[in-house]
Amino acid sequence: MAMLKGRRVVLGVTGSIAAYKSAFLVRELVKAGAEVRVVMTPGAKEFITPLTLGTLSGHPVHSELTDDREAGTWTDHVELGLWGDVVLVAPATAHTLAGMVEGRGDSLLLTVLLSAKCPVVVAPAMDRDMFTHPATTANLDALRSRGVHVIEPEEGELASGLEGKGRLADPVRIREELTAWFRNHAPLLGYRALITVGPTHEPVDAVRFIGNRSSGRQGVAIAMELARRGMTVDLIAGPIDLATDHPGIDRRDVGTALEMNAAAQEAARAHAPDVVIGTAAVSDVRPSAPIDGKAAKGDLPDHLGLTENPDILAGLNASVPADCFKVGFALAHDDGLEAALRKKDRKGCDLMVLNSLADQGAGFGHTTNRVRFVHGPDRIDSFELKSKDAVAVDLAEVIQARLLQRPPIEPDSTL
Ligand SMILES: Cc1cc2nc3c(=O)[nH]c(=O)nc-3n(C[C@H](O)[C@H](O)[C@H](O)COP(=O)(O)O)c2cc1C
Repeated sequence: MAMLKGRRVVLGVTGSIAAYKSAFLVRELVKAGAEVRVVMTPGAKEFITPLTLGTLSGHPVHSELTDDREAGTWTDHVELGLWGDVVLVAPATAHTLAGMVEGRGDSLLLTVLLSAKCPVVVAPAMDRDMFTHPATTANLDALRSRGVHVIEPEEGELASGLEGKGRLADPVRIREELTAWFRNHAPLLGYRALITVGPTHEPVDAVRFIGNRSSGRQGVAIAMELARRGMTVDLIAGPIDLATDHPGIDRRDVGTALEMNAAAQEAARAHAPDVVIGTAAVSDVRPSAPIDGKAAKGDLPDHLGLTENPDILAGLNASVPADCFKVGFALAHDDGLEAALRKKDRKGCDLMVLNSLADQGAGFGHTTNRVRFVHGPDRIDSFELKSKDAVAVDLAEVIQARLLQRPPIEPDSTL
């Protein structure tokens, strides 16, 4: 049950005789702590009134693309699609399922489904012969192949008087399946991560900089894995050449350590992250007096005055909630364990991920990594060389086990 607490469910109700059951479904979801916004097709209003569903959900029900033709207002289907953690269509008619497959936008619900970035679950309901028709079978297969989860209808007596499969799944079963689905697919929904990634470039002049060879691959792999598990990720990225296409990732690109620090501080204060992961290879120093414009070869100074950059991860400690799980990264050129333990204490981290340049295939630039998770002097977990994606999964497992011991941090409790 707890899995549905705070989950945002856009409930699509379509023109099936089973639409009356959506009233019970709304109650089940609301009782389980979900926030429900109902979108009805015009056909659904023949079977149940918006007043019923609006009252039970506690929010206005939307069914038309335009709110008030006279006033020229319209329902923001994009906003609704982005709001939801899931769009659940229950009951889903053969007509709406076909519209989803074809990508039609002739009802508000279909446009919400086209705009939604979140996962979609459908619970079909129809007469036996409609359900077993090859068109319906093909449509459901097509939707499954796009990642839509189908809650199978039940067998039994149908409104038409026929016996067979097609009856809308019981609202309690729909709620249970939705809960299980959230647990499996998005166990960390509602939790938030702040991740720094990549190198920083510290300008010497307008074109030259001090930097390092960090590719950002490991940090991006971690961001993608946590987003896949449902987390919202603030990703503060130094100059990297990698895409991070996931709706759960809110990316901010920066250049220098000072910019990265400011962006990370801002995100930490605004969003109270549940976990902070400092994967960025932040330049320790920056030129004290960058030259304006591009210096000619002969005008370059013999020596560069350098200023120490802030320790971004250590500095975040003051801006994140006490409960926040802090993960640091250490790249050693030798064994590095003693240094990693010292770094862990200095930066106030709960976990240090240590990799060493001494290991073939580990560290900057590679697609593989060999890491140790340094929890403390008495708990060090060593892993074999594996892909950076696989390292991200290992780390996500540790983070998940830790976070699921408590609910997500509320942004107000930042300080
Ligand atoms: C009394 C009645 C019951 C209906 N029940 C269903 C149903 O259970 N499933 C279904 O797919 N269509 C059913 N229909 C047909 C749909 O209402 C019709 O296909 C409509 O266009 C669906 O539009 P919508 O998907 O936009 O709501 C029923 C029609 C009537 C008149």
